[in-house]
Amino acid sequence: MKTIFEKERELFLPTYNRYPLEISYGEGAYLIDKKGDRYLDFFSGLAVNALGYAHPKIVQAVSEQITKFAHLSNNYITDIQIEFTEKLLKNAHMSRAFLANSGTEAIEGTLKLIRLKKGPDKKIFSLTNSFHGRTYGAMTLTAREKYKKGFEPLLQNIGHIEFNSIEDLESKINENTAAIIFELIQGEGGINEVSSEFISKVAELREKYGFLFIADAIQDGVGRSGKGFVHEYYNITPDVLVVAKSIGGGLPLGAFLTTEELCNVFPVGKHGTTFGGNPVSCAAGKVVLEEVFEHGLIEHVAELGAYLKNNLLKMKDELPDQIVDVRGRGFILGVELSFDASEVVKKMRARKVLTNATNQKVLRLLPPYIITKEDADLFLGALKDSLKN
Ligand SMILES: Cc1ncc(COP(=O)(O)O)c(C=O)c1O
Repeated sequence: MKTIFEKERELFLPTYNRYPLEISYGEGAYLIDKKGDRYLDFFSGLAVNALGYAHPKIVQAVSEQITKFAHLSNNYITDIQIEFTEKLLKNAHMSRAFLANSGTEAIEGTLKLIRLKKGPDKKIFSLTNSFHGRTYGAMTLTAREKYKKGFEPLLQNIGHIEFNSIEDLESKINENTAAIIFELIQGEGGINEVSSEFISKVAELREKYGFLFIADAIQDGVGRSGKGFVHEYYNITPDVLVVAKSIGGGLPLGAFLTTEELCNVFPVGKHGTTFGGNPVSCAAGKVVLEEVFEHGLIEHVAELGAYLKNNLLKMKDELPDQIVDVRGRGFILGVELSFDASEVVKKMRARKVLTNATNQKVLRLLPPYIITKEDADLFLGALKDSLKN
């Protein structure tokens, strides 16, 4: 009989490099394979499963909603969409929402909003080393070449500003700037934090030129950084805040949230989606928001995130030849190694801990918010062991 890996090669376009694991089910922060081996999951489906696997409240909310209706289309507005969106806007301190299915779809909608508001001639900027998604607009914003090469022609009037370079920012931003969009902590790019000086300069230039500031909080938002959204650590509020990934607690959901000033840019019919704001996803999303913002998970992430980071910094002192840098906040942390991080991913997997490597040398940690101190210690032990060997 063929293995699922052999079948995978026959059935799918070869776009993914899959882990050699046959997962049977998930439970809390653990994935259990068909042999019954338990793996501590320290990247939670790429920053999606904020409440871990099979969270009882998500299971209940989703089951209740699906027995009523799974989907109605956006010709209807439903109670669950209202309840979810009220909580989302309140906790994000934003005025209006458009609900989508994914991060890249939310970015596309944001780009359309910027163009409609600012016109076709003004330029939109992102930062070098950024990642914003795989569809054409989001891919054009994405600065890293490996995601774009061969797909040209891309969208017009989009440029990139050198990461954290105030000089480059000042030389490119002017009255012809429509917007600047960035992740305050770059995820895919290797957990790089935008500096407070750079953010202050963006705020100052926005006052002067009136462009829009868009925060792509798809990976670092909804409590992952130890605050609701990373911009809350700084003296800046976005004109548009883009969320996805953890907001749906494992179900596909994304959104872009605007200020009051932008609430009338799209007239009826100008933008839309079939699945966006799906009621079952919203039911899961509402549980995520309650757990994160109302039941103390955010404080847990801040506390345990600091514990993890301190211990990683200590490990860096002990193993200076292996660990080059430790970056990030809360549960979005990066350990830059002096060598290919995928080696360590493999060694950790052998020790039953799942991690992810990004930008070659960075071990990316995106654990579910529900991990315990014992889980953190298990991870730290496995990492030290893997690095020493
Ligand atoms: C910062 C950021 N923006 C956008 C995206 C695209 O989101 P999605 O994969 O849901 O389309 C991602 C996905 O990794 C991301 O990390």
